[in-house]
Amino acid sequence: MAASGSAVGLGNIWGFPTNAASNGGAAFLFTYLILAFALAYPALMAELIIGRYARANAVTALRTISSGNKTRLLALLVGFIGIVTVSFILSFYGIVSGWMIAFFFDPVARLLGASQLSAWLTNDAVMRNSLFVVLFMLLTIYIISAGVKEGIEKWASRLMPSLIVILLLLIVYVLTLPGAMDGLRAYLIPDFSLIADPSLLVDAMGQAFFSLSLGVGTMLIYGSYISSNENLPTIGSLVALLDVGIAVMAGMLILPAMYVALASGVEIYDDSGGLIAGPGLIVSVLPSLFSTMGAIGVFVAIAFFALMTIASLTSSISMLEVPVAYAVEHHELERHRAAMLIGSAITAISLIIVFNFDPLFDLVVTVTTEVSQPLLGFAFCIFAAWIWQRSEILEEIKKGCPEVESGIFWKIWPVYVKFICPVAILVVYFQ
Ligand code: TRP
Repeated sequence: MAASGSAVGLGNIWGFPTNAASNGGAAFLFTYLILAFALAYPALMAELIIGRYARANAVTALRTISSGNKTRLLALLVGFIGIVTVSFILSFYGIVSGWMIAFFFDPVARLLGASQLSAWLTNDAVMRNSLFVVLFMLLTIYIISAGVKEGIEKWASRLMPSLIVILLLLIVYVLTLPGAMDGLRAYLIPDFSLIADPSLLVDAMGQAFFSLSLGVGTMLIYGSYISSNENLPTIGSLVALLDVGIAVMAGMLILPAMYVALASGVEIYDDSGGLIAGPGLIVSVLPSLFSTMGAIGVFVAIAFFALMTIASLTSSISMLEVPVAYAVEHHELERHRAAMLIGSAITAISLIIVFNFDPLFDLVVTVTTEVSQPLLGFAFCIFAAWIWQRSEILEEIKKGCPEVESGIFWKIWPVYVKFICPVAILVVYFQ
């Protein structure tokens, strides 16, 4: 549940539908499904297996499976770049999540008749952004300092079921509104002329890696907390299925909602004629849609932004856990202090970005998710398949899945992470 909570986040409910909207709807969905299972799932398994074998954070774990001096140095480098990357990912993720909390309070304020407060909450300003990123980071720090069982597991298993229920209710409701079917059509009828477009491939791969939280040691550290009796290939496929399932479902909410907004007179196309994606979608199109719905719109807005906040929180805790686990295990810092110190440092970076939004925000997003993450994913495959002993991998998986050697997983996966994944990642990357 915690690993699914990490995977399911803004990437699914926001990133996936908007990527699909701007990349030919079902053509993107189709490519994404293939890449998620063919590329991202094997990479996810590599992280989970390494983590459970080493029972440690990424730096220590990669060093454990390396033998020579050079590979140990490489392990240190990859582990560290992962820690830095995930910290920067959290710094922008926290800002966007802060907006979600602000927009959650907006309908509450309107319900109470506090119209000035409502205007303040929805107006994109440095003060509001700073306050809410700090609030969101405090929640994240609070859960992480409570520990793995009492913090991460407890909150993930509370929040994830609520997320699924809210999402389903919202889909059912939006699909009954006028215009929704046009959105469903735009989402589900593929425009195959776009499928060979290199930018579609790059977007779909980036989306799959981001969505499964790969390359930075998040899944590795969660893997290190999984009991040896558990069947790793099954756990990995459940996480991937739930992640993809929720992304696909979120598409059935967001795209119909955009066309419902169009039918009620809200602008959903940007200047260049494409569908509004990016921040504009969630913080302008959807709130205007909710406000055309009258009284019920207030409750729909509360439900929607509660959904976004919950999804963000189960992901942000998995990000903060990466540097915190390293500090606790490697430098013997007490968990509480580590969470406080590292969480504050990342919040400081978020604030720097908030104060210099235009030059920094896109830059941090691009460098971390489009440059660093795929390369780290590539490195993890190299570690799992080329540096680590195959017999040790098999032993590790066998602990919770004794029959693995005769099953389909062991026939395909080793070849896959060894040849197909690294080559495919590089090809898509250089495209
Ligand atoms: N997967 C999450 C989402 O879809 C975000 C996330 C959590 C993440 N942990 C990560 C992304 C580590 C990259 C790396 O929103």
